[in-house]
Amino acid sequence: MPSERLRTLPILGDRIGEIEQICAKYPERRSAILPVLWIAQKQEGWISEDAMKEVAEVVGVTAAEVYEVVSFYTMFHQHPVGRHHIALCKTLSCAVCGAHEVSAYIREKYGFDAGKSISRDGRFSIEEVECIGACTEAPAMLVGEKLHGDLTPKSIDDVLGKLD
Ligand code: FES
Repeated sequence: MPSERLRTLPILGDRIGEIEQICAKYPERRSAILPVLWIAQKQEGWISEDAMKEVAEVVGVTAAEVYEVVSFYTMFHQHPVGRHHIALCKTLSCAVCGAHEVSAYIREKYGFDAGKSISRDGRFSIEEVECIGACTEAPAMLVGEKLHGDLTPKSIDDVLGKLD
């Protein structure tokens, strides 16, 4: 039974019932840190310092330990992102097959100012990441949790053009 204190947490409070069910599957609460972080990210779209403190309290670790996990995995966002987040692979196979050109195309076509990771309209954010396991379909990107490979300007527009 979660404490009343956990139910009042601003970010995770209304998901505490679900979080308790997840924690109950593990021998130690701290082992639930990854799924609880996913919930935190779903709540706000990214993981703020406040969210890290709440996750720490919920699973019984320090905020520094939560930060270590968040900073290790690129799928956790430490800054606000657009409505649709693009993780574009920059590792060797994708680099050789045109990842740089893909990045330039997306940034130009979808309205990113130089050096910015969020488009002017807030619709997209982009991040260059290490291999996403789709090397045979290079160049590849994730949009949210969905993988898209063999990217061309047309296939990029087919994917991104449909998103609001
Ligand atoms: S190198 Fe890009 S998916 Fe593996």
